Amino acid sequence: MIKEKVHILSVTAIKGMNDILPSDVATWQFLEQSAREVFSLYGFSEIRTPIAEKTELFCRSIGETTDIVEKEMYTFNDKSDNSLTLRPEGTAPVMRAFIQNRLYNLDPVSKLYYMGPMFRYERPQKGRYRQFHQLGAEVVGVEDAKIDAQVLAMLHQYFIRIGIDSVSLQVNSLGCPECRPGYRQALIDYLESRLDNLCEECQRRYQTNPLRVLDCKAKGCQAATVDAPSVLEHLCSPCSDHFGQVKDYLEILNIPFEVNSRMVRGLDYYVRTTFELVTDQLGSQNAVAAGGRYDGLVESLGGPSLPGIGFAIGLERLVLMKGEQRITAATPQLFIAALGKEAADRAFVLMSQLRVAGVQAEMDYLGKSLKAQMRRANKLNAAFTLILGEEELNSGQAQLKDMSDSSQSTVTLDSLAEMLIKKLGKMSTSS
Ligand code: HAM
Repeated sequence: MIKEKVHILSVTAIKGMNDILPSDVATWQFLEQSAREVFSLYGFSEIRTPIAEKTELFCRSIGETTDIVEKEMYTFNDKSDNSLTLRPEGTAPVMRAFIQNRLYNLDPVSKLYYMGPMFRYERPQKGRYRQFHQLGAEVVGVEDAKIDAQVLAMLHQYFIRIGIDSVSLQVNSLGCPECRPGYRQALIDYLESRLDNLCEECQRRYQTNPLRVLDCKAKGCQAATVDAPSVLEHLCSPCSDHFGQVKDYLEILNIPFEVNSRMVRGLDYYVRTTFELVTDQLGSQNAVAAGGRYDGLVESLGGPSLPGIGFAIGLERLVLMKGEQRITAATPQLFIAALGKEAADRAFVLMSQLRVAGVQAEMDYLGKSLKAQMRRANKLNAAFTLILGEEELNSGQAQLKDMSDSSQSTVTLDSLAEMLIKKLGKMSTSS
């Protein structure tokens, strides 16, 4: 153990922004790599956009009256007095890049995915952070309900791939600019007669963003909206048909779902299909992934009139759900315990040769005793150990110990890499 100094001034991380430590990184890499594999099966390509954008992009897309834009953005002026914002989500930046780089000229259907940090000034708690990571996917160019079902099928397959099955899919349709205003007004009328029962925030926003009242966690608001009009009863017939087809295709693909007509989303760009993958394992932060259609967004940002649909998964929430099943990092295949300077020098050369040959090898650099070196080999979970002392240097042979069953075999130092690769190959084919 290293003795800790008493620090007079210690600088800590920003509240709600976490380090991802080496012990967790293997899980993160597994979740990211699985996404790359599954998303590419569905024809998605990765896109990477800057972490900061012009503030206007988010105001115009997410909506001026949403919680994100009103309260949660990290916005600052740069030295030229431009208002910039750390991206609170990925859809708007991806659509900005899509339009700016005219990706619509490459293919009538664009399928893009991204992963990376997002920033929202929210009250941190389990599953909710100020810097968090999303894994997102977007399809631009298709209105057909088949694509809605395919996007959900991809999400479903991803969750199977990563071994998380304790989630359920909720779907809804929020209508379109034709039918939403009628529903909005019906909801405002309904809420108006129950204003006294709503929380302060909902009393303020019921006119500007009445749908959010349905999503409010306050008990009074939930009770007051039990009989609120359902958006599904106000859909125009094209929206109703579209939603019907989405449900049919989901059934054809055997993807379990439930309709939740109270589900509204915290971003204004959504139309028609919206969805959330929810779990009861994370307390109040129950959405592990969420998304929907945003058919007017590309045009409203100055691009061609193209429909779009996508989702984002919260990676921290996935990591929390993986819990005990976390993935362990790769461990050394060989630990060389060397005794004395001459042996340590030989071990150093051997270790370098092994690494070049593709074997993960490790040794001691601190001049520790044999016992301490073996303890470290155990702690590192090395598959094999090799003890190198004066005798081994003289004979050019040493004992290779298989740590799984303590069996030993004699190896010549000159053919160590070859032997090990053979043994490791056998181990990986037999396991
Ligand atoms: P969102 O619902 O705001 O949608 O976020 C998607 C997911 O990101 C949430 O379900 C949650 O898992 C995670 N998330 C959100 N905020 C936090 C936070 N503060 N801490 C930890 N995790 C969080 C969007 O962002 C849309 N852009 C999704 C989308 C893509 N819609 C269409 N395409």
